[in-house]
Amino acid sequence: MVLNLVNLTGDVVYRCPRCGFTTEANTWMFKCPRCGSPLNVEYELRKPRELSRRELAKVLPVKELVSLGEGLTPMVNRRGTYFKLEYLNPTGSFKDRGWALALSVLSNDVTVVEDSSGNAGLSLAAYSTVKGVRARIYVPRGASETKKRVMRLLGANVVETPSRADASALAMSYQDGVYVGHSWNPFFIHGVKLIAYEIALELGKVDNVVAPLGNGTLLLGLHTGFRELVDMRVIKEVPRLIAVEASGYEWAYRALHNTPPGPQSTLPEGIMVPQPPRLEQIVDAIRDSGGEVVVAGDLDVVDGLREGLRLGFIIEPTSAVVFKALRELKPSGNTVVVLTGSGLKATGEVYNLLAGS
Ligand SMILES: Cc1ncc(COP(=O)(O)O)c(C=O)c1O
Ligand SMILES: [Zn+2]
Repeated sequence: MVLNLVNLTGDVVYRCPRCGFTTEANTWMFKCPRCGSPLNVEYELRKPRELSRRELAKVLPVKELVSLGEGLTPMVNRRGTYFKLEYLNPTGSFKDRGWALALSVLSNDVTVVEDSSGNAGLSLAAYSTVKGVRARIYVPRGASETKKRVMRLLGANVVETPSRADASALAMSYQDGVYVGHSWNPFFIHGVKLIAYEIALELGKVDNVVAPLGNGTLLLGLHTGFRELVDMRVIKEVPRLIAVEASGYEWAYRALHNTPPGPQSTLPEGIMVPQPPRLEQIVDAIRDSGGEVVVAGDLDVVDGLREGLRLGFIIEPTSAVVFKALRELKPSGNTVVVLTGSGLKATGEVYNLLAGS
């Protein structure tokens, strides 16, 4: 199905990071027609210094944003480390930033199709109601019951599948809708990149940014944002991006260090991804920033939840992995930790984990 893009403010191009294929972005595409890789989008940037903090969304290439008030999240300093509270977004995760932009470029006579472990699907369900589109979301059976229930209450058609890999395969092959999956979606990353803009404009010099890594929309959003700010001479260099992967799903770590997989994690569901489509880009971004990958296991998740609560942060298991990186690397200089998902969607789960350990 050919779907025209709408609402763009100027010329946007698709570019394939693997083979260099380039074309004007007039219709919806997520996969390079030449080599099958996920595509990127590029457009002429507007310098954020000309904008107030409230107007920051104007750096995005759309006339109007499908919005529920995402972004402009607080950053707080606790014991010398900055924490960017992305879990305070409207549906309780940073995914809201991605959908705000990704849905803004689509017309509203479609069914949007996604595969998700929970948060991206929940966020898409909410933003689809704002946009007025139907959402069909494939979710692995083991995903959080609360998230699935709320997706359904928001009017999404939720299809449960045996595994995350099945969710992805079924979503991509569904014929009566448009696959907009966040892990492939090139616009999603540009929505997420505003996290980097907000951090840089608030702090100036940033040395390290710590974030969980699954499909890499967060990590690539951060890298894209910081790289653009360097290109526009707003900051001097991209901070070290320190990514935290789940044991057993440590794709970037293994690509960088050539190691076998560790024991399979069971707790940080948002980063237990079978095959990140943008792995090459993720590894390039980590290398480009002089960054590193840390691997967290289930025990690190439990420790991280406890550490988060000690600091007053009610986060979900996937988000809790970041504390492993702080402990293991003890990064020096200005360090920002992105707290990605709310524990209020997972109180039962979190309570059971902490009570049982
Ligand atoms: C709470 C939370 N943190 C981090 C991530 C990882 O994000 P990404 O898949 O973009 O690497 C996810 C993804 O589902 C998530 O739900
Ligand atoms: Zn290509």
